[in-house]
Amino acid sequence: MAKMTMEIWKYILVLIIVNSVATERIKDMIYMPLEGVAACFRRHNGTHQFGCSSSRSGSVGVVHLIEGDGDITWIERNATAGPYTVVLPFDMFTRNTLIRLRNTNNINGVLLTRNISLERPSSYSPEDTCPNRYSGYKKCNKMKPWNPFGSALLLEDWSFPMFYTENQTVLEAIKSCFQRHNAHDLETQYQRSLCAIEMKSFMYAAVNSESCIKRTDFNLNFNPTQFCDPLGDRNIHWPLAPLNEDSNSIIMVTARLDASSLFDGISPGAGNVVTGLVTLIATAYYLNHLNATVDKTNVVFSLLNGEAFDYIGSSRMVYDLKHNNFNALGGINLNIDHIKSVIEFGQLGRGKIFLHSNGEDDIINRLQNALKVSNNSVLHDSVPPTSVQSFLEANPNLTTVVISNHGLQFKNQYYNGILDDVESLGFNRNDTSTLASDLANIALQVANELYQMVTGEQDPQLAYPSLSDVKDLISEMLYCYLESAKCTLFRESSAPNVKLINHVLPLYVGVHRAPNLATSLTGQLLAYLTGEKLFEMNETMCHENRLAWMGGANFSGLCINSTVNYSAAVSPAFIIDGYDMKSGVYSTWTESIWQTLSVRMFLKPSAATERFSMILGSLIAGISFVLVWFINNRADVLFNSRLKATVHFTTAQAAAYGTFSSYDRVTSVVSLIKD
Ligand SMILES: *[C@@H]1O[C@H](CO)[C@@H](O)[C@H](O)[C@H]1NC(C)=O
Ligand SMILES: *[C@@H]1O[C@H](CO)[C@@H](O)[C@H](O)[C@H]1NC(C)=O
Ligand SMILES: *[C@@H]1O[C@H](CO)[C@@H](O)[C@H](O)[C@H]1NC(C)=O
Ligand SMILES: *[C@@H]1O[C@H](CO)[C@@H](O)[C@H](O)[C@H]1NC(C)=O
Ligand SMILES: *[C@@H]1O[C@H](CO)[C@@H](O)[C@H](O)[C@H]1NC(C)=O
Ligand SMILES: *[C@@H]1O[C@H](CO)[C@@H](O)[C@H](O)[C@H]1NC(C)=O
Ligand SMILES: *[C@@H]1O[C@H](CO)[C@@H](O)[C@H](O)[C@H]1NC(C)=O
Ligand SMILES: *[C@@H]1O[C@H](CO)[C@@H](O)[C@H](O)[C@H]1NC(C)=O
Ligand SMILES: *[C@@H]1O[C@H](CO)[C@@H](O)[C@H](O)[C@H]1NC(C)=O
Ligand SMILES: *[C@@H]1O[C@H](CO)[C@@H](O)[C@H](O)[C@H]1NC(C)=O
Ligand SMILES: *[C@@H]1O[C@H](CO)[C@@H](O)[C@H](O)[C@H]1NC(C)=O
Ligand SMILES: *[C@@H]1O[C@H](CO)[C@@H](O)[C@H](O)[C@H]1NC(C)=O
Repeated sequence: MAKMTMEIWKYILVLIIVNSVATERIKDMIYMPLEGVAACFRRHNGTHQFGCSSSRSGSVGVVHLIEGDGDITWIERNATAGPYTVVLPFDMFTRNTLIRLRNTNNINGVLLTRNISLERPSSYSPEDTCPNRYSGYKKCNKMKPWNPFGSALLLEDWSFPMFYTENQTVLEAIKSCFQRHNAHDLETQYQRSLCAIEMKSFMYAAVNSESCIKRTDFNLNFNPTQFCDPLGDRNIHWPLAPLNEDSNSIIMVTARLDASSLFDGISPGAGNVVTGLVTLIATAYYLNHLNATVDKTNVVFSLLNGEAFDYIGSSRMVYDLKHNNFNALGGINLNIDHIKSVIEFGQLGRGKIFLHSNGEDDIINRLQNALKVSNNSVLHDSVPPTSVQSFLEANPNLTTVVISNHGLQFKNQYYNGILDDVESLGFNRNDTSTLASDLANIALQVANELYQMVTGEQDPQLAYPSLSDVKDLISEMLYCYLESAKCTLFRESSAPNVKLINHVLPLYVGVHRAPNLATSLTGQLLAYLTGEKLFEMNETMCHENRLAWMGGANFSGLCINSTVNYSAAVSPAFIIDGYDMKSGVYSTWTESIWQTLSVRMFLKPSAATERFSMILGSLIAGISFVLVWFINNRADVLFNSRLKATVHFTTAQAAAYGTFSSYDRVTSVVSLIKD
C-alpha cells in the first residue's frame, strides 16, 4: 500500500513540474486589450440583414498582415493555421478584397487600419452607388449613378466581425507581434504558438427588422429583452415668423442632419452633411437679422434626421403633414398643401454651384441669378437622393431646388465614409478666404432672395452682420462640427458648466431611444442664433417661463426665447399599426443591440499544445478523483477522527459543485429556448 502511495506522489510531483513549465509559457499569452477601435455593427431593413457580428463568445483568428494581393492569395491557397484575423491597410479595404476573404471561409475577423502618415485612398464610399435606391420619388440612373465611388459595403451582410483603428500604438503592437511569431516559416505555422486577435461584437438581432421587433414584442410582458431598436431621432424646425392659424404659404428650407458609416462612433459627414447644415444655420441667422415683416409667405427652416436610411426624417415629416399631425411650429397644424416650394442645401463646397430643380417657378431663376449659376449648371428635372425626394413623392407638383456642389454625379469621394472629414474637405480655421467665404456667400444670397419673396421688397443692406461676420460664424461652426465639439459656439449655446466632449461629433442618427448629442447641440445653436436674448432674466425666471438657459457670449448665463422646436424623426413604419415591413413604402431600418465591443490580442498556443493541455488537464482531474476517493475510503486509517469534519466539508463542496453545474445546464437550456 505504502508503495502505491509513493508512486502516486511521484506522479503528482511530475505533474506539478510539467505544469509550472507550462505556466511559464502562459505568461506570454496574457491578453492585451487593443484600445481606440471602432466596430462594425448590425443593422436591418424590413427584409435583410447588414453589417457584422462576432460569434457569441467572441471570434478568434490568427493574425495575418495583408500588404498586397499575394497575401490574400496565400490565405486562399496556403494558409494552415486558420481561422485568421486579417489586418488590412486602408487602400486594400475594397469590396473585391473582402469578398475574396469571405469566400475562403477561413476568416474570423478583419481589422481595418490606417497609418496616418500615409496618403488616404483617392476614394472610399461604403454607400451604394445609388444611395436610398429603393425609396424616394425619382429613381437613380444606373448608367450614371449619383455616387460613382460607392462600393455598397454598407449593404452587405458580413460573416465575420470588423473593426477599425487608427491608433498607431496598436498598429505597432500588432505588427511587432506578427513579425515575431507569425511571419516566418509560414508553411509550418500550425506547429507553433501564434499571435492571435479576439474580436467581441456579438449582435443579438438577426434576420430582419420584422423578426427582431416581433421577438422584442413577444418578450415584453415577461422579460423585456430587446433585440433591436428602430433608427431615428428628432428633426429640428424654426419658422421665420409664427404661423397663421388657418392658411399658410410656406417656403421650406431644409438640410440633412445625419451621415452614416460602417463603424460605430465615426461618421463625420463633412462634405455630405456639415457644409449644408452650417449654410442653413447661417442663412437662418442672417434672415432673422433682416427683420422681415411676414405677410402671406412664411419661411420654415427644417433640419432632417435619418436621411441616410431611406429618408426617415423627411418621410415622417411628410407623413405627419399629410395626416394633419404636424404641430411642431407653435402648436399649429400645418398641412402639406401649405408648402409651396422646398429649397435644400445639399453637399456644398468651395467653387462652382449647381441647382437641381423640379417644377417651374420664379424661385429657380431668382436663385440662379442671385448665386450667379450659369445656364448649364441648372439641371432641370433633376432630383438628387436627398430629402426633397420625400416631399416630391407626396406632391410631384412641388417646386424643389437643391443647391449643391455637384452635377449629375457626386464630387465627394468619401460619401458616408469615415474619411469624409475635415482633412478631405480641406478646411482650415485660420483661412476664412475659401470654404467659409463661399458658404457665407451662398447663405447671404439665399437669405436675401427669401427676404424678397417674403416681403416683396429689396433687401436692406445690413451693417451688421456683414458678409465677413457671416464668414466668421461659418468658420466657427465648421470648427465645431469638423474638429471638436468643445468649441465657443457650442459652449455659448449650452447651459453654463455643461462639459462638452473634445472630439468630432458622430452624425450617425442612432436609435430613437437614445437622444442624439449632435441633434441637441444643433437645435440649441439654431435657437441661440435666431432666438431673442433676454438679458434681464435670471436662471430661475428663465426656467419658470419655460425658456432656454444658455451660456451666452461670456458663458455666464443668458436666457433665450426661441421658437425652435423638434419633431419625431421615427419612420412611419413603426407607428402604423400592422405595417407590412416588406412593402418598402417607408424606411424600416433597425439597429441590433449588443453588449460589448472589444478587441484583444494574445498568443494562441499551437493546436498540439492545446491538445496536450487538454489531456494534461483531464489527467489531473482523473487522478484527483481517484485520490479523493482513496482518501475518503481510508480516512479512518490515514487520519484521526478529528479530521473527519474536513473531509465532510470537501464532499459538501463537491455537492455544491454538482448543483452549480446542473444550474449551468439549466440556464444554457433556457438560453437555447430563447434562441
Ligand atoms: C492607443 O492605444 C494605446 C494602447 O492600447 C492606449 O494606451 C491609448 O489610449 C490609445 N489611444 C487612443 C487615442 O485610443
Ligand atoms: C432591404 O435592402 C435590400 C438590399 O439593399 C433590398 O433589396 C430590399 O428591397 C430592402 N427591403 C426593404 C423592405 O426596403
Ligand atoms: C502555395 O501553394 C502552392 C501550391 O498550392 C505553391 O505552388 C506555392 O509555392 C505556395 N506558396 C507559398 C508562398 O508557399
Ligand atoms: C506608417 O508609414 C510610415 C511610412 O511608410 C512607416 O515608416 C511607419 O512605420 C508606418 N507605421 C506603422 C504603424 O505601420
Ligand atoms: C432689426 O431689429 C433689431 C432689433 O429691433 C434692430 O437692432 C436692427 O437694426 C433691425 N434690423 C434692420 C435691418 O432693420
Ligand atoms: C413643439 O412641438 C410639439 C410636437 O412635436 C408640439 O406639441 C408643441 O406644441 C411645440 N411647441 C412649440 C412651442 O411650438
Ligand atoms: C440662359 O437661359 C435663359 C432662358 O432660359 C436665356 O434667356 C439666357 O440668355 C441664357 N443665358 C446664357 C448665358 O446663355
Ligand atoms: C398637379 O398638377 C396637375 C395639373 O396642374 C393636377 O392635375 C394634379 O392634381 C396636381 N397634383 C397634385 C398632387 O396636386
Ligand atoms: C491657426 O493659427 C494658430 C495661431 O494663430 C496656430 O497655432 C494654428 O496652428 C493654426 N492652425 C492651422 C490649422 O493652421
Ligand atoms: C431672479 O429674479 C427674480 C425677480 O427679479 C428674483 O425674485 C429672484 O430672487 C432672482 N433669483 C436669483 C437666483 O437671483
Ligand atoms: C456677461 O454678459 C452680460 C451681458 O452681456 C453682462 O451683463 C454680465 O455682467 C457679463 N458677465 C460677466 C461675468 O462678465
Ligand atoms: C417669447 O416670444 C414669444 C413670441 O415670439 C412671445 O409671445 C413671448 O411673450 C416671449 N416670451 C417672453 C418671456 O418674452
